[in-house]
Amino acid sequence: MSADVYRGVENREPILMTPEAVEGLVTLEEYRSKGAGYTALEKALKTMTPEEVHEEVKTSNLRGRGGAGFPAGVKWGFAPKDTGKPTYLVCNGDEGEPGTFKDRWLLRQTPHRLVEGVLITSYAIGCNQAFIYLRQEFDREAVRIRSAIEEARESNLLGKDILGSGWDCEITVFMGAGAYICGEETALLNSIEGKRGMPRVRPPFPAIVGLYGCPTIINNVETLSNIPAIINNGGAWYASYGTEKSTGTRLFSVSGRIANPGVYEVEMGVTWSALLDDLCGGPSREKPFKALYPGGSSTPILKASEIDDVIMTHEAAFELGTFLGSGATIVLDEDDDIVDVVLNLATFYKHESCGQCTPCREGCRWMVEILQRIADGLGTMDDLDLLIDVADHICGNTICAFGDGAAGPVATAVKKFRSEFEARVAVSTARGSE
Ligand SMILES: Cc1cc2nc3c(=O)[nH]c(=O)nc-3n(C[C@H](O)[C@H](O)[C@H](O)COP(=O)(O)O)c2cc1C
Repeated sequence: MSADVYRGVENREPILMTPEAVEGLVTLEEYRSKGAGYTALEKALKTMTPEEVHEEVKTSNLRGRGGAGFPAGVKWGFAPKDTGKPTYLVCNGDEGEPGTFKDRWLLRQTPHRLVEGVLITSYAIGCNQAFIYLRQEFDREAVRIRSAIEEARESNLLGKDILGSGWDCEITVFMGAGAYICGEETALLNSIEGKRGMPRVRPPFPAIVGLYGCPTIINNVETLSNIPAIINNGGAWYASYGTEKSTGTRLFSVSGRIANPGVYEVEMGVTWSALLDDLCGGPSREKPFKALYPGGSSTPILKASEIDDVIMTHEAAFELGTFLGSGATIVLDEDDDIVDVVLNLATFYKHESCGQCTPCREGCRWMVEILQRIADGLGTMDDLDLLIDVADHICGNTICAFGDGAAGPVATAVKKFRSEFEARVAVSTARGSE
């Protein structure tokens, strides 16, 4: 994998992948001397009310970077303040979506920035106990985050009476147990509570009834890592990046048939070509791009021809029938076999389905069985429509978005690359008549 460096887009300064961050702002000393460390927390605690902090984030129109792209400031506003119960903040660092590895970069390179973002957010929503949930495999990242928390505590940036403000806040690191579904926010809450990692029925939404039945805000690592810059520079400054509805910059984890895979920060609204060709150096095997999963394996696939001159925003992706998801772009070239790719991913989803909802549990298994027989040369033309039918029966019929993430991309792939599926079936039909 190439070095994870920001290679500059349209003369704007990066927000997260600054040259100093790429070098590493790991210790408190590094973060303070080269990364304006904790100046935003100090500004918030000494000069702003929680409401004013919240207002800046609303102005920034920062949208969640974990998958759904929901505006952070709006979400924070859903947590009631007068329940008499504690309010919790949970930072989602599960990062289980295949193709996603940008939160890992932030956890490793700028752990204090995340801690600062968690603290400022906690202040804004009235939380005194925050959690950072990390996937089990992030042991090195956990060391960095725990060390950042201890360093912050020693400097009175965390714990009791932070910076003499009279405000207390603790951060607890919680390690998951290796299940993709635990990245789904309500399964994650169950996981912290020591229950099976299965999604909860909504409503009630976690902002109202979340962790231990208390109001809980859940935000992604990248979302919270943007908060210090927003408080230091203002929400309007952040909103001047990107487009009106898709503000700021985004980290993309780019992998697959690409010359320079890695983590890239781009301003929202640049073209796909600016990322894939200019920054990532185009295809890796001198074969043209064939397709891409734009935002992770649970986002419907796009043909390469569909992204010509298209900009990278939530709205533009939606118009193409897909999403920016967690910003994990997986690129395929002409030599990649779509049937094999789809089967590979469907097998992952079958394994990871928590089994709670029948359409997902049974449907994911059926999709793999049908795909497997097509891949083995035993499928029929009817199997293609059956595959779409099974996928359609999963979508929208489950408690959480896992089902849509598993099934939507399968149905889209069959529709967009039908001739490739038909070719595999035609081979089997020809064999059958021999
Ligand atoms: C199956 C599934 C897995 C998910 N995995 C993650 C994850 O690993 N990290 C993450 O931040 N969000 C994940 N999400 C999205 C979360 O449920 C939630 O929307 C997000 O953490 C909210 O943070 P944000 O608003 O800052 O994006 C997942 C969602 C689903 C349905």
